[in-house]
Amino acid sequence: MLPEKTFEDQVAIVTGGGSGIGLAVATEIARLGGAVVLAGRKPERLDAAVADLTALGAKALAQPTDVRQPEQVDALVEAALAWGGRVDMLVNSAAGNFLVDADQLSVNGWLAVVNTVLNGSFFCTRAVGREMIKAQRGGRIVSIVASYAWTGGPHTVHSASAKAGVVAMTRTLAVEWARHGLRVNAVCPGPTDTEGARPLWQEPAAHRRLLDSIPVGRFARAEEIAQATTYLLSPYADYVNGEVFVIDGGEWLGKGLS
Ligand code: HXC
Repeated sequence: MLPEKTFEDQVAIVTGGGSGIGLAVATEIARLGGAVVLAGRKPERLDAAVADLTALGAKALAQPTDVRQPEQVDALVEAALAWGGRVDMLVNSAAGNFLVDADQLSVNGWLAVVNTVLNGSFFCTRAVGREMIKAQRGGRIVSIVASYAWTGGPHTVHSASAKAGVVAMTRTLAVEWARHGLRVNAVCPGPTDTEGARPLWQEPAAHRRLLDSIPVGRFARAEEIAQATTYLLSPYADYVNGEVFVIDGGEWLGKGLS
């Protein structure tokens, strides 16, 4: 277990921070003493999350942001600096996904997901990375990906392609930015029981099939993904760089086996 003040006097930006895995990560960073800037498209969700975190004694800011818009991403980083004076950590958790047959996927559907997952992660990483390089205090970046980035995943061609790009971005920048003291890693959750992801497996037969494919026999809890993420953000992982930390109950290993 990480010490309670692990992130004291540090500032994290968490995209997709108003719900699901992003909110769980922000909550865990706050529990460990960090100040968190929550970015997302829905102001009411961000405000509710900030109210909850503040009630727990945490320092939190809501910054409505569409990560697909580079100027909004720049405004996010400026807001974080104006509020917290520094940015030490970025977690790219904003995502969009829906199940669709590739031949039926519209151009707009492809763009909605790829722009959010791949372009959004790069815009945020670029804006925060620039600031970290300038400040010369180092920094840590973690992106949330999915194992279908390398196994492929039927009906998720947009998301799988975009997440594969985020894995490549992670490994590329881990090498390119190490000389600036930045560590760049990814967390790869298996099926996680969140409000955003639940519709993907709401159909009972699909739910059963998915559950049967997870060797430990259950979905992940968002808190478990948050703990893996804060490990990578913490000094415990100072020598971990360019890694994709799979936390999926063994799901991807068991693919196709019973
Ligand atoms: C087919 C769809 C669709 C669907 C949207 N589209 N949903 N096509 N099936 N279910 C198409 C629309 O018709 C439109 O194309 C285009 O996509 C853009 O849709 P909009 O709703 O206008 O876009 P937008 O408001 O930007 O929404 C983006 C989104 C949305 C991705 C579609 O679902 C979203 O923002 N979701 C965020 C939350 C989320 O998805 N979380 C899940 C993460 S879980 P046309 O051609 O009609 O204009 C996850 C884990 C997976 O990723 C791990 C599994 C193991």
